Amino acid sequence: MNETIALLQKHRSIRSFKSLPIPEEHILAAVASGQMASSSSNIQSYCLIRITDPRKRQTLVELTGGQPKVAESGAFFVVCGDTRRHRLMCEKHEKKYDAKLEAFLLALVDATLFAQNLVLAFESLGYGICFIGGLRNNLPESGSLLEIPTGVYPFYGLCVGSPDHEPPLRPRLPLEAVYFEDRYPPDDVVLGRLEAYNGAIREFEGDRGEGRSSWIQRMAEKFSRPQRTDIAAYYRSQGADLG
Ligand SMILES: Cc1cc2nc3c(=O)[nH]c(=O)nc-3n(C[C@H](O)[C@H](O)[C@H](O)COP(=O)(O)O)c2cc1C
Repeated sequence: MNETIALLQKHRSIRSFKSLPIPEEHILAAVASGQMASSSSNIQSYCLIRITDPRKRQTLVELTGGQPKVAESGAFFVVCGDTRRHRLMCEKHEKKYDAKLEAFLLALVDATLFAQNLVLAFESLGYGICFIGGLRNNLPESGSLLEIPTGVYPFYGLCVGSPDHEPPLRPRLPLEAVYFEDRYPPDDVVLGRLEAYNGAIREFEGDRGEGRSSWIQRMAEKFSRPQRTDIAAYYRSQGADLG
């Protein structure tokens, strides 16, 4: 349809990178593009930390659950919600910062819109990316490694670099499973639309998927077990009011 849509539709996460640096001008252009994402009331409640110290990157490999790409990619970043600036502005005007869950959600939404625009800019320059949710495995340790102060919430990491493999595109749910008109469909319709996806994922996984349970079963298993149960306590300790 056009180049932008073609770029969006060829996204796949890259997990193996050539050891090539990323020119500073590409990084700055991508960050500036990320910044042009919409932001609720223009509060711009995010920041990005680039990790260049090789020892810190190596520590983060462990803290993210043993992901070597965190050290091997051309660049590694941590995407954070940032309410610290707002706190400082309140202080400057002798007001108590008293924002609630809404401010935390706005930071998460703002940071994520920023991050996705950042990623698209990198991908448009020919780089590959992989978000690193594994950062939330050990938030207190990662937070202190990066000296993250009160009011700043590290959400996830991001590897960027020159792809060293060409993974196939991972199929998504059928469009009618995510796009509705006028009303949310009944549960049996929702479930029916998911069934076909088991087959698509099985085909995508090929030999790698042999013996694995279906995608629906895996989701049921995933969401029937609490995960990362300590993150609310961490974000509260960073000053978030989660209600
Ligand atoms: C917030 C977020 C966190 C993620 N965390 C990880 C991660 O820690 N390690 C990893 O290898 N992939 C991670 N991924 C990549 C997803 O597994 C991937 O996007 C998803 O399986 C879809 O595949 P695709 O991006 O190749 O299309 C993450 C993606 C997102 C959006």
